[in-house]
Amino acid sequence: MLALDSFNNTDMEIKGKNAIITGGAGGIGEATAIRFLKEGASGILLVDLSEDNLDKVSKKINDDRIHTFAADVSQSDQVKAYTDFAIEKFGKLDIVFLNAGFEGVVKSLSEYPEEIYDKVMAVNVKGIFLGLKHSFPHLQDGGGSVIITSSVAGLKGFGQMIAYTTSKHAIIGTMKVAALEGAPFQIRVNSIHPSPVDNRMMRSLEEGFAPGAGGEAKKGFEKMIPLGKYASNEDIADLALFLASDRSKFITGSVHIVDGGFCI
Ligand SMILES: NC(=O)c1ccc[n+]([C@@H]2O[C@H](COP(=O)([O-])OP(=O)(O)OC[C@H]3O[C@@H](n4cnc5c(N)ncnc54)[C@H](O)[C@@H]3O)[C@@H](O)[C@H]2O)c1
Repeated sequence: MLALDSFNNTDMEIKGKNAIITGGAGGIGEATAIRFLKEGASGILLVDLSEDNLDKVSKKINDDRIHTFAADVSQSDQVKAYTDFAIEKFGKLDIVFLNAGFEGVVKSLSEYPEEIYDKVMAVNVKGIFLGLKHSFPHLQDGGGSVIITSSVAGLKGFGQMIAYTTSKHAIIGTMKVAALEGAPFQIRVNSIHPSPVDNRMMRSLEEGFAPGAGGEAKKGFEKMIPLGKYASNEDIADLALFLASDRSKFITGSVHIVDGGFCI
């Protein structure tokens, strides 16, 4: 039998750790920043497209451990710039939450606009590659945890969402390669797969599936979820916290579903 003290160092805190959160002005990003701060994070850099939206979130959270950086995650020079900024501010980096995402539009594949397809892939796939490429050299000294937001659309097919579904599947391949290459440096890399979350992105998709009747689309989606409701941003933040913390210190290269049973 294991002695109880084998389980030392298993509390949920991320005391003293510094994190980058992309998509930091969005629903999941903001909730995760708050969760990380409550668990003792030393510094958090929120990255998103709009300085205004970042300012709003930063003012709302109102904590001097929060910093912001406006950047497009699909542009290498901007990803390098936000990573360098984090290192300059914090000295070391422990947690990278690659969470920015773009849903594209709801259209059959024969009607799907190519420019939107390219943009979804640029943000959701290349953006993750760039986030890994620029953060890995900084994590190689002391290890760390990278968490990548995919979706249940990374595990199942969704009609009329060719670009988003393809991009979220691709994330699993990216995550696995990064986990293999990171392991010798104690860098852990995992993906998380939420079902619909009650925030802006789902309002946009509900409207896409049922123009003018988004509420009805929401009821339809909820019926497909055994627990009967959408996730909250905080439900996703809790999983991100687990993967960021030392409680998950032997977990890497894994797919983590948070979906109220949707994939059953
Ligand atoms: N909301 C859901 O139902 C749901 C379900 C499964 C997975 N996800 C994923 O969760 C992640 C977070 O989304 P959310 O639910 O918080 O929605 P959200 O729309 O509130 O947040 C997404 C954020 O990403 C930012 N973003 C988009 N393109 C960017 C770019 N090029 N550079 C920098 N930032 C960019 C947006 O500005 C936005 O603030 C996304 O990857 C999304 O695909 C969401």
